[in-house]
Amino acid sequence: MVRYSMPGRWSLTDLSVRVGKTTFKNPVLVASGTFGYGEEYSELFDLNQLGGIVTKSITLNPREGNPPPRTCETPSGMLNSIGLANVGVDRFIQEKIPFLNKFNTNIIINVAGSTPEEYLRVVEKLNHAQGIDMLEINISCPNVKEGGMAFGSDPESAHRCTSSIRKVTNYPLMVKLTPNVKDIVEIAQAVEDSGADCISLINTLVGMAIDFRIKKPLLKTVTGGLSGPAIKPVALAMVWKVSQKVKIPVVGIGGITNTQDALEFLLAGASLIQVGTSNFVDPQTSVRIIEGLKDYCEKNEIKRVMEIVGKLEN
Ligand code: SIN
Repeated sequence: MVRYSMPGRWSLTDLSVRVGKTTFKNPVLVASGTFGYGEEYSELFDLNQLGGIVTKSITLNPREGNPPPRTCETPSGMLNSIGLANVGVDRFIQEKIPFLNKFNTNIIINVAGSTPEEYLRVVEKLNHAQGIDMLEINISCPNVKEGGMAFGSDPESAHRCTSSIRKVTNYPLMVKLTPNVKDIVEIAQAVEDSGADCISLINTLVGMAIDFRIKKPLLKTVTGGLSGPAIKPVALAMVWKVSQKVKIPVVGIGGITNTQDALEFLLAGASLIQVGTSNFVDPQTSVRIIEGLKDYCEKNEIKRVMEIVGKLEN
């Protein structure tokens, strides 16, 4: 709960959000893959202010990722084809979790794998670690040949993957969905049925960019995942559709750069939001949004930020 005073009177704004058994001090998280393991950003602002940190995807073994160039700028956004580069779960537990545990914010570990068994092995190792608040299961990466988005592209495999993870861990599960599907609502429902505590959406949209002068794609892998303000309308529509059809909380992701964007996602039905690409432009985006939400609630005499969630009128 955030208490603060205004000149001449006391005010009480509760920015906290409860998702299952997990309480977030505010609804603003930083998205996987845009915040590393928090180390660099901790030099730029006080991470204690965040509602939560979602780490870069962790796999069983270290991964170098895809060959460069693996990012490029596009109108109102960017493409990435990182290919799940990460230090591997053992080094992550040894070196990165202790650092993240210095902060009073929720730590959400994004888990990925090339096979269903790999997800399970990563989760089983994380079961023995300390200081993890939630897992975000990545069944939506568009940049790998095996696994990734393949597990999140049809309801049966999304169900199978989530329910097998549900059986091996007590951690709350957030499952991250891909927008590159025929019907994201049926995937969300399958994930809900398999025991997820919440659903995050959207991961990136498959896209490509070409340098016509040299007749070459800008990414070595040719296609990659599009993120940033360019995808916000798509993300908003999907968050709105999914939140009408599932009972578990929805976490909105896609081109959020300011308080207005965050409010739009809350109105569309998101209980939490994740700031992604904007971290590369202004690392303090999340802090600005948290302050902006406080001001908005104060000005509009909203006692709890949760009161805004799903209040879209049409
Ligand atoms: C990547 O590492 O290629 C991006 C991760 C993702 O889109 O889930």
